[in-house]
Amino acid sequence: MNWNLGTLRRTGISGTLRTTRTLGTRNWSLRTLRRTGISGTLRTTRTTNPKQKPDEDHLVFGQNFTDHMFVMEYDEGKGWHDGRIIPYGNISIDPASCVLHYAQMMFEGMKAYKTADGHVQLFRPYMNAARLNRTNERMCMPPIDEELFVSAVKATVLADIDWVPSKPGTSLYIRPFILSDEVSFSVLPAKHYRFMIILCPSGPYYAGNMGKLSATRIYVEDEFIRAAQGGTGFAKVGGNYAGGMKASQKALKYNCKDVLWLDARDHKLVEEIGTSNAFFKIGDEVITAPLGGTILPGITRNTVLTLLKEWGIKVSERPLSIDDVCAASENGTLAEVFATGTAAVISPIGTLCYKDKDFLVNNNQVGPLAQRLYDTIYGTQTGKVADTHNWVVRIC
Ligand SMILES: Cc1ncc(COP(=O)(O)O)c(C=O)c1O
Repeated sequence: MNWNLGTLRRTGISGTLRTTRTLGTRNWSLRTLRRTGISGTLRTTRTTNPKQKPDEDHLVFGQNFTDHMFVMEYDEGKGWHDGRIIPYGNISIDPASCVLHYAQMMFEGMKAYKTADGHVQLFRPYMNAARLNRTNERMCMPPIDEELFVSAVKATVLADIDWVPSKPGTSLYIRPFILSDEVSFSVLPAKHYRFMIILCPSGPYYAGNMGKLSATRIYVEDEFIRAAQGGTGFAKVGGNYAGGMKASQKALKYNCKDVLWLDARDHKLVEEIGTSNAFFKIGDEVITAPLGGTILPGITRNTVLTLLKEWGIKVSERPLSIDDVCAASENGTLAEVFATGTAAVISPIGTLCYKDKDFLVNNNQVGPLAQRLYDTIYGTQTGKVADTHNWVVRIC
């Protein structure tokens, strides 16, 4: 059976009849199916109670989740099995589960975009798959076949295809995650896991600015740290974010939108900003911190590096001290600072607040490089700019 829009409508996505259907095997390579034991079909149980979709003009990130979610189990000795799409809802978990005590978990973040001609597409999803497996390796969790990961993402989005918003700047945020739910108090890797994918429509990051980029104010944290060498900074795990909340609270007090982290040892080298990577243009050189184990290898970061090199702009992945950044602000050579990530794509920084002093960047204006990168990347994601790198993967 082909799983297309017509089928979705027929199967009662917006009706009330409870139906159980199977997705066609087209999305699933045979190799993947054999390995995961999904035996040729992805079971789908459609909701009997479809939700009202939120108003596209007032989407709040992480508030409205779609009608369905993907779940797959892992058991030691059996591998990943029982992939299925079921109605979105609460999950049952034993209070003694490993994840609730020792935080053995991970997550990913990506988006599906609707193009002007109605296609729905992902941006570099195999990079999310590869990053997921690097995180899993660090967290002693079982890997997931990359094809299986991308197929599961596609199938989940397809199940709720009507939820992909179409207004400019909107997208469907995709949150794959894995939790360890073996009942155990021993501090050892679990033997049972759940992999899930949930979806929520999200509005434009710069909603308050009519969709136009605007420069933000960032707090430079010189007391708390996010990640140290040998830790989990390069992995996408909840603990990294929980540990950062204390600094986020400080940032709010200084009227800053996010935190620029410094290195754990000397509190001198710039690392990354909140849930983004950071780029600094000083003179004609664009600098970003090297991937040394403490920062997350962002997919947008990789995309920006690729584009800058192609455009003939001098770009370096090298250590950069906050003192050099502040000196450049004072002597007028700090041309641009911007954050890169799935949420905002490119977020220009206009002020760095460090040790109770404000350091201005480009007179608090959006720089031309940030704007060009945003237009190119967001344009590619939404089909307005030709995808010359094969970064886009179409769902339908
Ligand atoms: C800590 C951190 N750094 C950087 C990024 C940017 O990564 P990406 O460009 O893949 O969204 C994210 C977002 O996932 C993040 O959480």
